[in-house]
Amino acid sequence: MKLEGKTCVITGATAGIGLVAAEQLAAMGARILLIARNQARGDAALQRLRERAPGIGHRVYYADLMHITAVKRVAAEISAAEPRIHILINNAGAIFSYRRLTEDGLERHFALNHLAYFLLTLGLRESLFAAAPSRVINTASAAHQAAKLDIGDLQSARGSNGVLAYQRSKLCNLLFTRELARQWADAGVTVNCLHPGFVATDFGTKSGGLLSIIFRAAHTFGISPEKGAQTIVYLAASPEVADVTGGYFFRCRLIQPAPAAEDDSAAQHLWFESVKLAGIA
Ligand SMILES: NC(=O)c1ccc[n+]([C@@H]2O[C@H](COP(=O)([O-])OP(=O)(O)OC[C@H]3O[C@@H](n4cnc5c(N)ncnc54)[C@H](OP(=O)(O)O)[C@@H]3O)[C@@H](O)[C@H]2O)c1
Repeated sequence: MKLEGKTCVITGATAGIGLVAAEQLAAMGARILLIARNQARGDAALQRLRERAPGIGHRVYYADLMHITAVKRVAAEISAAEPRIHILINNAGAIFSYRRLTEDGLERHFALNHLAYFLLTLGLRESLFAAAPSRVINTASAAHQAAKLDIGDLQSARGSNGVLAYQRSKLCNLLFTRELARQWADAGVTVNCLHPGFVATDFGTKSGGLLSIIFRAAHTFGISPEKGAQTIVYLAASPEVADVTGGYFFRCRLIQPAPAAEDDSAAQHLWFESVKLAGIA
């Protein structure tokens, strides 16, 4: 798979499966634009890309994707500098042990795991359209299977723990993928999402409380980040999926998501609520 001349924006690539995916895509010739929140970790990831695939002009942009203003700012910075983006990988995510609101008044899982995907993608829309055929890839999770979405309570105010809120945010990834694929069907931009498997990364280990201990222990049984990144790389680069859109993938295969993830009405309601909450109406 060759990606010379292609520009790829990726979030959550300072660690875990995002870092491996970025390195592999760079090795195929893609120019990588990372979005990181921490300067030392962003610089370290950029250095690894420059060593793995030198001379392509990889870059790092900074934003804490938990915050609406930061996502809008970084999307504006990137779209001003990059008239053509061929691949966007929304991958940054986290699980927290308890409910807390962001400075925007949003529940943290909803803000980081869903709304940042939504806002960044719409913020880069013109550059994605200009580069068509282009691809959007959303890292979701099989955790969505246990989730129920209450459109009247997207911020989980009626009671929730971290695991439930995480599951809901990952269901939002599938619903967003479905609705975006529908809306952009004629734009030459495919939109797909994936479950990476249970992967031995730092994921969950900084959640706080008992959850951190459980994740640290459970990761002993996880697959490697290299295996976890395979489906991201496949969706970003393989000619086999050039025309596939709106799909949910696991181990590089199209699979059936939970019925709740195929609810077109819920997908459209989530879209309209996200537009309102992000202040882009
Ligand atoms: N690991 C699994 O078993 C598993 C299973 C299913 C789905 N997933 C999904 O896979 C994705 C990546 O997870 P991973 O396993 O690679 O986790 P990870 O090793 O913890 O990496 C998470 C990445 O997201 C970044 N990030 C977190 N909060 C951020 C914020 N507020 N702003 C900007 N960037 C932020 C982190 O940056 P820092 O370096 O600054 O922390 C890091 O680069 C997530 O969406 C997760 O839901 C993972």
